[in-house]
Amino acid sequence: MSGFQTNNKVVSWLEQRLPIFSMMQHSAVEYPTPKNLNYWWNFGSLAGFVLVVMLLTGIFLVMNYSSHTSLAFDSVERIMRDVNYGWLIRYLHMNGASMFFILVYIHIFRNLYYGSYKSPREVLWWIGILIYLAMMATGFLGYVLPWGQMSFWGATVITNLFSAFPIVGDPIVTLLWGGFSVDNPTLNRFFSLHYLLPFVILGLVVLHVWALHTVKSNNPLGVEIQSPADAIPFHPYYTIKDLFGIGVFLMFFLGFVFWAPNFFGEPDNYIPANPMVTPAHIVPEWYYLPFYAILRAFTMDIWVISAKLQGVVAMFSAIIILFFLPWLDTSKVRSAKFRPLYKQFFWLFLINCLVLGYVGGKPAEGVLVTIGQICTAYYFAHFLIIMPLLGKIEKPKALPASISAPVLKEKA
Ligand code: HEM
Repeated sequence: MSGFQTNNKVVSWLEQRLPIFSMMQHSAVEYPTPKNLNYWWNFGSLAGFVLVVMLLTGIFLVMNYSSHTSLAFDSVERIMRDVNYGWLIRYLHMNGASMFFILVYIHIFRNLYYGSYKSPREVLWWIGILIYLAMMATGFLGYVLPWGQMSFWGATVITNLFSAFPIVGDPIVTLLWGGFSVDNPTLNRFFSLHYLLPFVILGLVVLHVWALHTVKSNNPLGVEIQSPADAIPFHPYYTIKDLFGIGVFLMFFLGFVFWAPNFFGEPDNYIPANPMVTPAHIVPEWYYLPFYAILRAFTMDIWVISAKLQGVVAMFSAIIILFFLPWLDTSKVRSAKFRPLYKQFFWLFLINCLVLGYVGGKPAEGVLVTIGQICTAYYFAHFLIIMPLLGKIEKPKALPASISAPVLKEKA
């Protein structure tokens, strides 16, 4: 299966008992990769890099963090002021969370643009959505841990959403809280789950890469590898390109860590949690804002279905709908390069998501409510109406015969 050979007796002894070296050789060295990948294909490895940064910094933070409501806030302040390089570890972790979401959002939109979710990559795509869901949960749980005002009130608002479900709603909220309000048992279970979930994400990433290596990478042209001439070995070509990407990314990431460490944060979270004082404007972290806008787009009770329940169902559906995308998109062509109409709707959808994010970060009043409602309707229309219709009415451009064809003289 792989061309792994060694003269080293120890390596050979181990290899015969656990073929870990040939596996590495097969999947990280020889792995035939399309030779035309552009820089948008760097974002998967970048996300993997940040996952490792998050795990490492998280483990060191825990060494000095106390998950008790009367100690949590102060223990974080102690990390910032007294623990050696505690400020660095915390700022890497805090900003790393935002970086993780920026990278994964770019990764998702890259997939949407190049149709990477289509057959045979459906399971790879599904695992990606599961990773995204786990990331959302982990981010929310982590934000509660410093036990500042936004931690407390964010936790209160978001856990309360479950109470919108009839019959099971209230018992679910009590279970999440571990009591009858957000308090010490809540903080403890959130801490426990915040520690656990990143390892679940790690496991999912292993499955993600396994699925990727089974179906092979898509590429900007969206046509499969047909002959060895279309591919190059992963090492050294893409190992070096990924390393270069990590270098550039580190400048961006560390720029925030050293010069604007609280850029993505909320000043209110530097005030200790106080159940008696509600902040004027409770906002979630920026990466949840589009979904927060969808949640708040529903303002009218319809018969027994409360506006809150409609919002909660819509918010969850906005992610669940992604699972069906491989079938909602009826076009045979993958890459937007060859889909003149889809290309325009892709950009419209991206703008729509940005507007939703903007609306989600503002108080729900005046014209913003209407804008949020229109953008929410458009979000669902994109998947349920536009994607299925486009595949039927669009005339795609002619696809190249192979990945190599457009650059080979004799075939040009
Ligand atoms: C921890 C988060 C994630 C990590 C570490 C990760 C890692 C990777 C890596 C290393 C690749 C190959 C390189 C590349 O195409 O960029 C990849 C490809 C892919 N990922 Fe992810 N991923 C993550 C999240 C997601 C999410 C949230 C989705 C979708 C909702 C997703 C969907 C895909 C798809 C469809 C491909 C195949 C792309 C192609 O071949 O064109 N991934 N991922």
